[in-house]
Amino acid sequence: MKDLTPARDTLDLIELASRDEIAALQLKRMKWSLRHAYDNVPFYKDSFDAAGVHPDDLQDLSDLSKFPFTVKTDLRDNYPFKMFAVPREQVARIHASSGTTGQPTVVGYTQNDLNNWGSVVARSLRAAGMRPGDMLHNAYGYGLFTGGLGIHLGADALGLSTYPISGGMTPRQVRLIEDFKPKGITVTPSYSLSILDEFAAQGIDPRDSSLEVGIFGAEPWTNAMRNEIEQAFDMHAVDIYGLSEVMGPGVSMECVETKDGLHIWEDHFYPEIINPETGEVVAEGEQGELVFTSLTKEAFPIIRYRTRDLTRLLPGTARSMRRMEKVTGRSDDMIILRGVNVFPTQIEEALMATPGLAPHFQIELSRPDRMDQMCVFCECADANLSAEARQAAAKAMSAKIKQTVGISVKIEVADVGGVKRSEGKAVRIIDNRPKT
Ligand code: DLL
Repeated sequence: MKDLTPARDTLDLIELASRDEIAALQLKRMKWSLRHAYDNVPFYKDSFDAAGVHPDDLQDLSDLSKFPFTVKTDLRDNYPFKMFAVPREQVARIHASSGTTGQPTVVGYTQNDLNNWGSVVARSLRAAGMRPGDMLHNAYGYGLFTGGLGIHLGADALGLSTYPISGGMTPRQVRLIEDFKPKGITVTPSYSLSILDEFAAQGIDPRDSSLEVGIFGAEPWTNAMRNEIEQAFDMHAVDIYGLSEVMGPGVSMECVETKDGLHIWEDHFYPEIINPETGEVVAEGEQGELVFTSLTKEAFPIIRYRTRDLTRLLPGTARSMRRMEKVTGRSDDMIILRGVNVFPTQIEEALMATPGLAPHFQIELSRPDRMDQMCVFCECADANLSAEARQAAAKAMSAKIKQTVGISVKIEVADVGGVKRSEGKAVRIIDNRPKT
């Protein structure tokens, strides 16, 4: 794999700023953001008033902990545009969550917000090793989802040659990688596995492709999966994180030279980690729920938004801005099986460590005899795997899960192609337990 480290003189000045400089900028911007939200969004005025706080109470960054949280239902309750802090005419772009689990959440951007979004995504793509003039295969979905259009904004800002292939039509994904010879690919990790299968189906070795770096995000993925993808494509695999409520992709990004967690672009997004039970801010370095406050957003300021994502904050390395550890899961995706907390990423790790099995999986939860059961559906890596070898692989994986997570699960190994493929975010859990 090539060394793709960007030259220091190509970085934004703020990426190299001292902690004091970053904190001073954050304080100035945070004061503005709280005031802007309070003055222009009735929801924030009401919630600050109810908590007995006022934007003037923020004298120091740590004073933020006095302010109330914002949660997803607050956004739903203010559907569609009541969280906007500027007249609707000044909203240049609207994105929304799919709304499959209820009222969609709607977010808006002014032209300035779009420029800022473009600049943090450009910074992220550069951190991944992309340079002006490089070609990008952008397989994140285009539409109301922020992935496709968000990456595109940053690719334009960095000066890449981008083609908006979006997700789906997998044979065409391989064809264009072969014909256009992109240097980078932006895609969910789970969909990259479908693309990998398609390479195999077409008899092409992905290691011979032009790809030098993959920029993966929008769903949790493990370092074991990173190794698998890096080996299979002979390219770097780096992590990009974001969420629509805060901006979209490009809230934080892993640097290709270190791959040691994601630098949060702290000049635009202020992170806190809280204890999800008590809401207290935890000590620096401790694990908990990630909370974000936007520092520059005009159309949709967001104050202390509880992401539900679990991680911890770490000091800067390749950049001075703080890092967040790779997100291992969302509290929403945490399965409590007979009293034990389990994340799909733990299942992924066990799967990746089991020879003979492909990296695709889905978890089914059921409750046959008033006891919760978990069944992991996966598939063999090789169509010629014998019935005995499949059974042995299932047994080995089940033993690994028992050993590392402490639960007994059933493993079913299907034929090649037996697990439903994703074209965007993978659906990892099928919950067939009766709703109580
Ligand atoms: O998934 C934005 C995005 C698009 C990020 C493309 C990266 C690349 P939402 O659809 O609002 O936005 O989903 C946000 O996805 O709260 C996390 O739970 C999860 N997520 C996003 N990136 C990562 C990641 C986009 N790198 C939710 N690792 C977030 C783990 C991630 N989880």
